[in-house]
Amino acid sequence: QAQDIAAGEKVFAKCKACHMVGENAKNRVGPILNGIVGRAAGTVDGFKYSPAMAKAGADGLLWDEANLSGYLRDPKGFLKGNKMAFAGLKKDEEVVDVIAYLESFDAD
Ligand code: HEM
Repeated sequence: QAQDIAAGEKVFAKCKACHMVGENAKNRVGPILNGIVGRAAGTVDGFKYSPAMAKAGADGLLWDEANLSGYLRDPKGFLKGNKMAFAGLKKDEEVVDVIAYLESFDAD
């Protein structure tokens, strides 16, 4: 399936209530997502994670494409006890595209 960054930017509208990306991004309800693809879970400086997310990262959970897909599809099902209050994306295409969009922002 082809990745579509522009479509991913539109999907990211669903995330913006809680997350920022790009230059001048700050932690809000959720952590900054710059550089998230490939990063260890629960490791953005200054963000207060749930114990479940912090432990998952310490235990080695990496946000590669497979794990991000699972989490974004079904946040609560993927990681019990995490505090992201989001129902999940319903379509594979939305997941693939939003990950492509996130990949376009390096860690800073
Ligand atoms: C955590 C992505 C929607 C609140 C995360 C993480 C990712 C992510 C990748 C893990 C971050 C890390 O380990 O550093 C997304 C995407 C969304 C979305 C792509 C839209 C498709 C939302 C919404 C909210 C939210 C709408 C608020 C209602 C949070 C919170 C955490 C989090 C509070 C921390 C979870 C914890 O510590 O247990 N999100 N998110 N997210 N997100 Fe989202």
